[in-house]
Amino acid sequence: MTEPGAATASPAAPASPSDWWQDAVVYQIYPRSFLDTDGDGVGDLPGIIDRLDYLRDLGVDAVWLSPIYPSPGLDVGYDVSDHSRVDPIFGTEADFDRLVAETHRRGMKLVLDLVMNHTSDRHAWFEASRSSRDNPYADWYLWRDPAGYAADGTPLPPNNWVSFFGGSGWQWEPRRNQFYEHTFLVEQPDLNWRNPQVEAAQMAMVRGWLERGVDGFRLDVFNAFLKDPDLASNPEQPGATAWNRQRHVNDRDQPDFVDLLARFRALVDEYPGRFTVGELFDGGPEQAATMTGGDHLVFDWEFITAPWSAAAFRELVERRERLFGPDRRPTLVFSNHDQPRQASRFAASAGTDDIDAVAKAAAMLLVGLRGTPFLYFGEELGMVDVAIPADEIVDPPARIAGPDFPWWNRDQCRTPMAWTSGPMAGFTTGRPWLRTGDYARHHNVAAESADPDSVLSTYRRLLAARREVEALRRGSYETLDAGDSDVFAWRRAAGGSTAVVAVNFAAAERRIRVPRGDAVRAVAGTHLDPPAPDADGGLTLRPFEGVILTSG
Ligand code: BGC
Repeated sequence: MTEPGAATASPAAPASPSDWWQDAVVYQIYPRSFLDTDGDGVGDLPGIIDRLDYLRDLGVDAVWLSPIYPSPGLDVGYDVSDHSRVDPIFGTEADFDRLVAETHRRGMKLVLDLVMNHTSDRHAWFEASRSSRDNPYADWYLWRDPAGYAADGTPLPPNNWVSFFGGSGWQWEPRRNQFYEHTFLVEQPDLNWRNPQVEAAQMAMVRGWLERGVDGFRLDVFNAFLKDPDLASNPEQPGATAWNRQRHVNDRDQPDFVDLLARFRALVDEYPGRFTVGELFDGGPEQAATMTGGDHLVFDWEFITAPWSAAAFRELVERRERLFGPDRRPTLVFSNHDQPRQASRFAASAGTDDIDAVAKAAAMLLVGLRGTPFLYFGEELGMVDVAIPADEIVDPPARIAGPDFPWWNRDQCRTPMAWTSGPMAGFTTGRPWLRTGDYARHHNVAAESADPDSVLSTYRRLLAARREVEALRRGSYETLDAGDSDVFAWRRAAGGSTAVVAVNFAAAERRIRVPRGDAVRAVAGTHLDPPAPDADGGLTLRPFEGVILTSG
């Protein structure tokens, strides 16, 4: 198969220093939904290989794959039954090695998603562990005796922990007459990271992937690996849901986790130029900043919940600048496979139907702010959330959602990539595992490649500008007072290179002022004809317009 639509030439990727991730734009692929080449309705590794040229030409430097390991699929791949192999549904081991080689051949990097807090209950470790109290894997998971028995003989859980996916965090196993702990589904038992054998096995698995040439890892819910050694109950607090009615001080964020992270990083550092990014399980930039360092970044969720407002973004960026300081690098994450699509969310927050205009302005924020941008597949098209009828729900927690357990069905942001306006959006010749959305009629790679004013063409222009202007990749950050509360403007500077970026969050024209000297020429913008300031630094921005200006 070949890539539909015309490719836009982009400048070659910068030479790859060991801290390449400082320059990189990371693109998240949800493999089930990217491109299906064998007609089973599920995306696969050959499909990703087939579209690597598309990603290179878009201006992507690194590709992060959501889990590709064998899995019963209850948490759609985050319930892993063998961490060291490729799920045959995605392809063969040889396909994976070819994907690594083909990614590298195009000057790009490949990042895997490591799910190490828990396994599937079908993992061989857990199958052995649950079988008795005295097998070699008996202590590989968090097993505890009941706290007691109810009058009717029902065993009582060892503590008050609850599952993030609803209900108790403990499941009874009659073969051991014990409970095991699970932060997520009952079918996702948490590993006992305090058992040195577990740590050794995980490290061996990680080394295996490093040996196969992967360039980095995203660590799923990494701050939950270690629990309180005594598994003490969490303190109660007022809250709207069972999860929020506890302070999660004992089921995550343990003080000795920094040592575990350092041991993990020491292993990764044996392989030069490999980067890692930890996914905070419920945490803000304060925590992200303290855990960021060396070649390790941390995701937090503030942008994901931020309203569409210049003031909100300015405040949030300034706070994270204070917390991270100039030497630690924040991440820029506006959406992912767990959250509403950014175009949908920001447009709703802005109260506008012009979703594409907001998608382009969001692209400007992602490209222009200080940090490593993570772009979720399809955002470059302005893809939107898709309503999923109740009888098609795949996301397990969404099936049990109720008043005490509100849940946003994650299927809505996981629908297939739109390659063409043809049947099934050009994603599959079969029946897609999740429905494609109406968006595919207009928002697809083929149509948007042919339209210089599309969201896709805008991303291509902005990502090319980021490669061109060093200040956008590596520069310092400074807020500018643009003189209008609906416009967020800032300056980036690195060496001799300066860039001024301004984004109008309003659905109406705004007149602002930018510093003369620093902002003379428009390098790129959300619109095809970005405005340059007049001789006094006065600049008119159209609704939702963003622009990158440089001094010369
Ligand atoms: C992943 C989710 C997953 C959960 C449990 C998360 O943070 O991003 O998709 O359901 O971890 O693995």
